[in-house]
Amino acid sequence: MNLEKKLIEVLNQAKEVFHKVESSQDLQDKKAEYLGKKGVLSTYLSDMKDLPVEEKPKFGQAINDIKNQINGFFEDAKTRIEKAAVMKKLSLEAIDVTLPGKEIRLGSKHLLSQVIEELEDIFVGLGYTVKEGPEVELDLYNFEMLNLPKSHPARDMQDSFYITEELLLRTHTSPVQVRTLLENIDKLPIKIICPGKVYRRDDDDLTHSHQFTQIEALVVDHHASLSDLKGTLLTIARKMFGEDRQIRLRPSYFPFTEPSVEVDVSCHKCNGVGCSMCKGSGWIEILGAGMVNNAVLEAAGYDSNVYQGYALGAGIERIAILKYGIDDIRALYTNDLRFNRQFK
Ligand code: DAH
Repeated sequence: MNLEKKLIEVLNQAKEVFHKVESSQDLQDKKAEYLGKKGVLSTYLSDMKDLPVEEKPKFGQAINDIKNQINGFFEDAKTRIEKAAVMKKLSLEAIDVTLPGKEIRLGSKHLLSQVIEELEDIFVGLGYTVKEGPEVELDLYNFEMLNLPKSHPARDMQDSFYITEELLLRTHTSPVQVRTLLENIDKLPIKIICPGKVYRRDDDDLTHSHQFTQIEALVVDHHASLSDLKGTLLTIARKMFGEDRQIRLRPSYFPFTEPSVEVDVSCHKCNGVGCSMCKGSGWIEILGAGMVNNAVLEAAGYDSNVYQGYALGAGIERIAILKYGIDDIRALYTNDLRFNRQFK
């Protein structure tokens, strides 16, 4: 076979080879095989030295032609392989926009936060501002300046977690009263509420928890009367438990108020007739309140002949439990989403 024929054969073979090549690695290998320094065409080029001089240019020209053509096969194959890779990638990444979406569950506020916010809204509507106090509190503010000196028997009602002799986890939100009195002696009137966590050494059960939540309210002014307190309590009771509610004040005792009252609300379940919720009495006890004890005012530097005040303290859990018929206080702390989601 003469050289030219051989070259045609190489060309045809290369055409077929590049047409079939499928991977870019293979493509590079084939390129080297045909067009590389030690490739098929190079061998033919080195054979050229044996040709008669007059044939050399023609043969060189032919090799060049073939080289260009094979290069063309290579380029075509390259384009084809790249295109195929893109198509494959596209098909793998394809998104079916007609598939149903994944539902994203939106969170919601915890029931205790909801009750706090509901109460805050009502009080803010009555002109109160919201104040916060620390959960690690001085014995001085938690007890002593609230008319509960060290030896006072009423301290037993609030079994405490002490950190040092003078420092404890606050047992109620009432120390915020003292803090507010001390901070505002020249900025009267005082009208604040303070929601927050409190701690007592209780054994946890259906109705008790070693940590729970209270809201405190304090008003101090030149004139602040028990009837103002009563009006406030009635408003809160009706906003929280329904416009038909009545309230009833029973005499009670707290060292920091004088007189002190326990506040009952007519049962929202039976409308005061008597049911299991109110244990047949028609009334439900919801909070403690009273006129700020003169001793508390005086301890904070207020002249009790000039100033008067009233205060109240309510348990947030108790309000939530009553309002939503919850039978175990612990359900409010265990973060069981099946429970929490009921109050979305
Ligand atoms: N601090 C009391 C407690 O935790 C509740 C309380 C009663 C707060 C009467 C008050 C109040 O402000 O006037 O048991």
